[in-house]
Amino acid sequence: MNKPKNFSDFFALSMTKFFRLIADTFFAKRYGHRAVVLETIAGVPGMVAGMLIHLRSLRSMQTGYGSQIREMLAEAENERMHLMFFIEIAKPNAFERLLVILAQGVFMTFYLFMYIFFPKTSHRMIGYFEDEAVKSYTEYLELVENGLVMNIRAPKIAIDYYGLSRNARLSDLIRSVRADEMHHSEVNHSYADNLSKISNLKKSEQKKVA
Ligand SMILES: [Fe+2]
Ligand SMILES: [Fe+2]
Repeated sequence: MNKPKNFSDFFALSMTKFFRLIADTFFAKRYGHRAVVLETIAGVPGMVAGMLIHLRSLRSMQTGYGSQIREMLAEAENERMHLMFFIEIAKPNAFERLLVILAQGVFMTFYLFMYIFFPKTSHRMIGYFEDEAVKSYTEYLELVENGLVMNIRAPKIAIDYYGLSRNARLSDLIRSVRADEMHHSEVNHSYADNLSKISNLKKSEQKKVA
């Protein structure tokens, strides 16, 4: 667990706890439905960050942004694929579909402005979101392994994407998705750490000048 070190981190963690509480209240143990709805949100930040870093590179006419842009866009695409897997497993009801449309509008707007003004806090928050996703998929996996959720065959689209065996089950799919979420967590926390180092460097240089 990446411990919060400053106000920005605490804010990011508080937002994460707040969103987690909403998800827990709404979905409880319905992990299939939870995955479908939350993956529609998870696909937003990478696309927003990728687009904004891309625009920054265009504005500044500088290189050095390529790997970050590609990583963020790959994250968005990976989350979209998670949605495609779980939509085969849990079919959202009409209310959940409405919720997804509303949540996309609200979260997309919120995250766009948050990233423009506070990119470090934004990456930290997504790092914490991903930590929560890892926990949720671990809980889901436990239910499947304990026989409380049927360990059905993994959907073909997931077998092809991950190169799983033809007999792969839901538990194999959850393990693969969880590994992706761990990667997203590492990447976003590392981006937040780097931005933090840059802003600390700038502050110490300003002190020297003063
Ligand atoms: Fe995901
Ligand atoms: Fe993720």
